[in-house]
Amino acid sequence: MSEFKKWDEIYKSKLVTAAEAVSHIKSGDRVVTGHAAAEPSCLINAMADNYENYQNIEINHVVSLGEGRYVKPEMKGHFHFNGLFLGASTRKAVEEGRADYTTSFFHEMPMLFREYLPVDVALVSVSKPDKHGFVSLGPSCDYTKGIVENAKIVIAQVNSNLPRTFGDCNIHVRDIDFFVECDEKLPVSLPGKIGDVEKKIGEYCASLIKDGDTLQLGIGSIPESVLTFLWDRKDLGLHTEMASDGIVDLIEAGVINNTRKNINKGVSVTTFAMGTEKIYDFIDDNPQFQFFPVDYINDPRVISQNDNMVSINSCIQVDLMGQVVSECIGLRQFSGVGGQVDFIRGAAMSKGGRAIIAMVSTAAGGKISRIVPFIDEGAAVTTSRNDVDYVVTEYGIAKLKGKTLRDRARALIEIAHPDFRDGLKEEYERRFSEKY
Ligand code: COA
Repeated sequence: MSEFKKWDEIYKSKLVTAAEAVSHIKSGDRVVTGHAAAEPSCLINAMADNYENYQNIEINHVVSLGEGRYVKPEMKGHFHFNGLFLGASTRKAVEEGRADYTTSFFHEMPMLFREYLPVDVALVSVSKPDKHGFVSLGPSCDYTKGIVENAKIVIAQVNSNLPRTFGDCNIHVRDIDFFVECDEKLPVSLPGKIGDVEKKIGEYCASLIKDGDTLQLGIGSIPESVLTFLWDRKDLGLHTEMASDGIVDLIEAGVINNTRKNINKGVSVTTFAMGTEKIYDFIDDNPQFQFFPVDYINDPRVISQNDNMVSINSCIQVDLMGQVVSECIGLRQFSGVGGQVDFIRGAAMSKGGRAIIAMVSTAAGGKISRIVPFIDEGAAVTTSRNDVDYVVTEYGIAKLKGKTLRDRARALIEIAHPDFRDGLKEEYERRFSEKY
């Protein structure tokens, strides 16, 4: 029988320096890094510092708020980045052919890392161990729990600033290979500015939300704006992919109380949180806010179990048939599908559910209409015309489900920016052979 060791002895025996930990990464390995606010920067920096000792390391992750040293041109041959979502630090490298993008629904990513992209080394952030020897994945349960369970080697940065969160995101020290203690502040993602246009969009979206609804809110200023219009609602629920600052006040005020949900009743649930200290402090040691892996939270079959599920997401372009482009600007991969389709489908399958795409009617300072006759050449459709339902701009709400192509086009032209309506009407007349 092997000798019994208490968890704190096990933990101490696995404590190493960052340099020692990353010496276990070998050329040719696939290294998957922790997500968003839980990006383990000390480990990533130690790996990047050690680049001369590596050839052909593949790096994968979803959202990153870090500087992405491994995608810099001088790292060629040492690291190759293959992203499942792109952001400020990585999209240029993909555009210039120095890195790759792999497309996947967010809810399928744990499966992807098990079956298609097997993980050699997982680099993750964890909280300090609790009195029972469990560390928490903090604000990022998402695909991170899956890579911890499946990687050949798991290296964890123990950051005492990482919140300890509830749900299914705690791991025993026994199940991690190496610990590196390194405290750092969590990266911050500031909410976008809410101007008059975002306010108007928020108000239209809020008009579609009733007492007792369960909400999913995407990234950015529009979801934040929607939340400011919900103070008079009762018994809202939260089942969302991402939690940000805006929800904190509504939960504290009891507007979001999760009492009418069919599953995870009484608690707000998410798969990751990203924002400022406001949300990071709120989720710390807070049993009314729970984190679950993305193959639970984002599975459309799970989402649909709550009645009256409302999803709100944004996009880059919508064509006159209602095809939604949310991740590409022409051929340029801008972000990723993320959980948009997961939630649009989950909301569509939910009894009484509503799926909303909300966007400013123009881009590039008003020079470009986001409602277009044809999507830009090369762009991928994120949400198909069969999945789309409500489209909202600062000019109103277009309900598309159940409408003919002709009526869809009319509804979308009505909510386009007035400067672009004439051009869209011309296309309508050409396409449908009738006067607008
Ligand atoms: N043509 C050309 N450029 C466009 C454009 C268009 N139709 N629409 C937007 N852009 C440009 C903007 O000008 C802006 O450029 P900049 O970065 O140089 O300022 C950039 O694209 C981003 O546009 P914006 O609308 O400000 O982005 P956002 O931060 O509000 O994000 C999405 C919008 C659609 C990119 C983002 O929501 C996304 O990635 N969605 C897909 C994933 C998802 O929905 N996940 C589920 C929720 S968690």
